[in-house]
Amino acid sequence: MQRLLILGGTTEATALAQALPTDRWIGIVSLAGRTRQPLTIPAILRQGHFGGVDGFVNFLKAERINAVVDATHPFAAQISHQAAIATDQCQIPLLMLVRPPWEPQMGDRWLVVPDLAAAAARLPGLAQRIFLTTGRQSLASFSALKDQWFLMRMLEPPPPELPLPPGEVLCDRPPFTLTHELDLLQRYHIQALVTKNSGGTATCTKLAAARQHEIPVVIIERPALPEGDRVSTVAAALKWLDQQS
Ligand SMILES: NC(=O)c1ccc[n+]([C@@H]2O[C@H](COP(=O)([O-])OP(=O)(O)OC[C@H]3O[C@@H](n4cnc5c(N)ncnc54)[C@H](OP(=O)(O)O)[C@@H]3O)[C@@H](O)[C@H]2O)c1
Repeated sequence: MQRLLILGGTTEATALAQALPTDRWIGIVSLAGRTRQPLTIPAILRQGHFGGVDGFVNFLKAERINAVVDATHPFAAQISHQAAIATDQCQIPLLMLVRPPWEPQMGDRWLVVPDLAAAAARLPGLAQRIFLTTGRQSLASFSALKDQWFLMRMLEPPPPELPLPPGEVLCDRPPFTLTHELDLLQRYHIQALVTKNSGGTATCTKLAAARQHEIPVVIIERPALPEGDRVSTVAAALKWLDQQS
């Protein structure tokens, strides 16, 4: 049996763990440990940081890992770079499973920005009431904006000490239907959406809702990922695993 480390926290990671041929692979899914109630995953689960590249290397050796699939969120670039360095040091094959980014469609008003700071800088003069969907860890980047009102959606409530911009926190878990998103935009009189270009189907209805409401979308580009083997589907990842000796 071979031991596969899946860097998780995404639907793709869970789907891969579920589809793994159990006659050949033992799956170990690693989560950063940020979500207090992670989904049930059909694999051995470990939670918490590795402790940088050195900690990652120690884990690979201690757990006798034969291959790694990095199926983390496209914006979790730090762990992806650490995985690339650690697997290279240990001479272990690494595959990145990265879902395709969203592409603008006819009728979209996308304002593409490189990072959170640029997204915050784009808002004054653009809109007063904003739907902010960039996650808990990003709220501080918007906290200096006192003249805007934010509907801040995230999985779990932010820690009390975190500086927030004016507005309302909404804790909810995808997937979200188009009707749900259209209703939110209308109920809160939203004039602009801010999102990362996460890709995938679980949260893409907010883009369709923004299109229908003809409101601008400030969309944050993905950070650069390391060089190396990369696929965009679970099926392709399984094929790659099949080719590993
Ligand atoms: N929407 C989503 O589903 C989702 C999920 C995850 C992330 N994100 C977004 O991605 C961005 C960065 O997220 P992030 O902080 O999780 O990643 P990150 O910035 O790449 O990683 C930061 C540190 O967290 C630890 N870590 C991350 N993923 C891990 C894993 N799977 N197993 C063990 N340790 C892990 C590592 O700590 P050590 O160096 O100490 O080992 C890593 O250095 C955020 O903007 C976040 O909103 C979104």
